[in-house]
Amino acid sequence: MPRPSSRISGIVPSGKDGWEVHSAAWARKEAGEDIIMLSVGDHDFDTPAETIGACVTAVRGSNHHYTPLAGVPRLRQAMAAASSACTGVETTPEQVIATPGGQAALYASVQAVLDQGDHAIVVAPYYATYPNTFSAAGASFTVVETPAEDGFQPRADMIRAALRPNTRAILINTPNNPTGAVYTRERLEQVAEICREHDLWMLSDEVYWTLGGGEHVSPRSLPGMAERTLVINSMSKSHGMTGWRMGWLTGPQEMITLLTNLNLVTTYGLPAFISIACAEALEERYGVKDIAERYAARRTVFLDAVRGMNDVTVRGSEGGMYVMLDISTIEPDDEKFAWAFLDAENVGVMPGSSFGEAAAGHIRVSLCQPEPVLQEAALRLRRFTSSYRREAA
Ligand SMILES: Cc1ncc(COP(=O)(O)O)c(C=O)c1O
Repeated sequence: MPRPSSRISGIVPSGKDGWEVHSAAWARKEAGEDIIMLSVGDHDFDTPAETIGACVTAVRGSNHHYTPLAGVPRLRQAMAAASSACTGVETTPEQVIATPGGQAALYASVQAVLDQGDHAIVVAPYYATYPNTFSAAGASFTVVETPAEDGFQPRADMIRAALRPNTRAILINTPNNPTGAVYTRERLEQVAEICREHDLWMLSDEVYWTLGGGEHVSPRSLPGMAERTLVINSMSKSHGMTGWRMGWLTGPQEMITLLTNLNLVTTYGLPAFISIACAEALEERYGVKDIAERYAARRTVFLDAVRGMNDVTVRGSEGGMYVMLDISTIEPDDEKFAWAFLDAENVGVMPGSSFGEAAAGHIRVSLCQPEPVLQEAALRLRRFTSSYRREAA
């Protein structure tokens, strides 16, 4: 074949991607082995029946045509209302644009604020696609870690040290994947101050906002930030709709108008019947409370089972769909630990270092399994950690 563009070849550089343990666990499960998969961030339950019903009604109702580029009006209205609740800033439909999933909103936000050669700061540990999303824009980025011993909270002094003359944006994610940390108002205010001082965009990934423990603070609500913040939202986590691919971006109206041109040349609008079902799900909050309660209960059950385990320390783990365990006292090499745990106990978890240096010495445990399975996994972890120490001794 003729040479592919360097743009497309550069999005995912070949080599190790950090998902090796997960892939091996998945292959073994597919082959029929009894593996507990705690490495993925997708719900173990279906989309709420009311949302499915809304979609069936919509698809039978002749909603089979092109839709407005920025999203059908009813959907934008519902997204704006959700953004008002999420960010604490009254939001109009003109300040939101519908995208096929949160990932596309993330992509749009990076395309919107960074030119080729510009620089961004990415606060880590981070969601796995972040680096590739910047590569796709031809932008460079510096990873600024959040120290584990600080509960994975962002540190303004560390962010300041990474600023360059061509820095244009800071990307944060709260509640965080993978750490489950929920950034405090105080720390967010410090990061916001940097954005105002240096005229930067704040890209704020808030796809887990309904799954937080305690107060969700959006940087968009902080003084002088609404004009320089783009918020990434999604129906995947809050509404149990990962496979429906519906997300949105919230920001200043001028930027959203410009971004409509990106939809012109990419999606050319979203499926009509899915848009209508999503509008109804947002309006009626189908599943939101139930899903949030389910994850909160799972987090409590798993953390209760893990607390008191010798040499395993819980870090972050306040919200989102994940728990982060510091296992460095038992085995500093988190990848080695994850492989050995899979081999010995048939449980697949993610090595923390897959998400950046700050999460090294940790494992990320997904809560996307029913409570009895999580309890069983905790039991196996307890058995494994004690025998691992004995073997090492
Ligand atoms: C932090 C974070 N942001 C964005 C996404 C993208 O979600 P989606 O494209 O399904 O909306 C995910 C998915 O796991 C995520 O964890």
